[in-house]
Amino acid sequence: MKSLALVSALAATNAVHGSLAASVRHKPRAEIEPITIKGNAFFQGNKRFYIRGLDYQPGGSSANVDPLADPKICLKDIEKFKKLGINVIRVYSTDNSKDHDECMNALADAGIYVVLDANNPLYSINRNDPHGSYNTPYLQSVFATIDAFAKYPNTMAFFSGNEVIHDLKNTTLTAPYVKATDRDMRAYIKARGYRKIPVGYSAADVSTNRMQTAHYFNCGSDEERSDFFAFNDYSWCTSDFVTSGWNKKVEAFKDYGIPIFLSEYGCNHNKRNFGELESLMHRNMTSVYSGGLMYEYSMEENKYGIVQIKGGEKGSKDQTGERIELEEFAAFANALKKYPAPDDDGGYNPVSKASACPPADDHWDVHTEKLPAMPEGARKFLKEGAGKGPGLNGPGSQWAVDQASSSTPGTFEDSDGSSDSSDSDESAAVRGTVGYAAFVISGVAMLLGALAW
Ligand SMILES: *[C@@H]1O[C@H](CO)[C@@H](O)[C@H](O)[C@H]1NC(C)=O
Ligand SMILES: *[C@@H]1O[C@H](CO)[C@@H](O)[C@H](O)[C@H]1NC(C)=O
Repeated sequence: MKSLALVSALAATNAVHGSLAASVRHKPRAEIEPITIKGNAFFQGNKRFYIRGLDYQPGGSSANVDPLADPKICLKDIEKFKKLGINVIRVYSTDNSKDHDECMNALADAGIYVVLDANNPLYSINRNDPHGSYNTPYLQSVFATIDAFAKYPNTMAFFSGNEVIHDLKNTTLTAPYVKATDRDMRAYIKARGYRKIPVGYSAADVSTNRMQTAHYFNCGSDEERSDFFAFNDYSWCTSDFVTSGWNKKVEAFKDYGIPIFLSEYGCNHNKRNFGELESLMHRNMTSVYSGGLMYEYSMEENKYGIVQIKGGEKGSKDQTGERIELEEFAAFANALKKYPAPDDDGGYNPVSKASACPPADDHWDVHTEKLPAMPEGARKFLKEGAGKGPGLNGPGSQWAVDQASSSTPGTFEDSDGSSDSSDSDESAAVRGTVGYAAFVISGVAMLLGALAW
């Protein structure tokens, strides 16, 4: 029902531009209304939009399969998504050299939006070398992913990073590079004339740096700060709003000036009833949170799934097998039915607001508000486009040398965009602590790098 008004509006437009509309009426379709942001909330037209979705990664991270590039995978799952009644999926890695029309259009037909990670295991910021891995081949891949998905009206948002910052203090040194990527993605979307697709970061479930991370990604100029913030949360184990500590997480974020949602929520200690949805859709949370994504759809080695993909277990590349609904599939479907989205605006705050940048402390090692400048070699993409994406099996960027760049990649710059090479303190601090010994390519370093996305 929700898209009826839009469909008739489109019909009216088509009537006016009759012959033109007929000649351009081909893929991608536009019947699903793009999601926008106002204040600290998402909107579908004039109606507040609450995320009621799940994380979709058939085969897990080790399989590194793009389920949206293969209709033999996605079409089976879209049937399950419709049965559940979800409205958003998150996809962790997509192949920017492939076509996604069939899956994205089938999702649009089902009223489902997609939140995409722009990184993948080979093209991402390397925790052991954030400075060196923020380079031209990396940004080329990220921008090519934007090119591959910007045309679909149901591309809801992009993640600029996933859990790059972790519980070790020295991982916070990656923050300026992830935020620079976030800034660059926004700049690319604007320069290429795309719709204003929201860009934000997905943080790990780490209590000691969650708030610093949230404020860090929302501080600085409007070009620099994220459009939204998301974090993963595993604290609700078939409990309730207070026992899980979610009440405190509402309190902590009550003045936060951009939308937030849970990019993963779950727990597999107890049999799940997905009571999380009751609170997520309740006034207790809706003034601050815009819903969340249940972790996760398919049963993988870490045992969070609600559907078993036959033959796809243990990270197989073949994810086309039969889908078997596990017990918790029905439990999730029931919870979605029992706790619908509010009809109203949930008490959101219509005014967007920047945070103050967090000071360095015992858990946060970022001593500057400045961000590294976009590598010289990547600037041309803003004008010319990123070109063909390297896909999921290219040479990778985590240890790439930025040959295209005449200046040092990642020179820190002031928020006005002017680079400031005298500002070597921060750069040195970042380099010093991270340690260039990490440049030595070893099996262990490669493994750590692969985990840092
Ligand atoms: C961060 O600290 C941990 C533990 O002290 C250490 O093992 C790791 O190598 C450090 N990482 C970097 C990139 O320096
Ligand atoms: C709402 O908050 C109150 C006060 O913390 C709590 O007692 C109640 O269980 C909460 N309800 C939901 C659905 O979160």
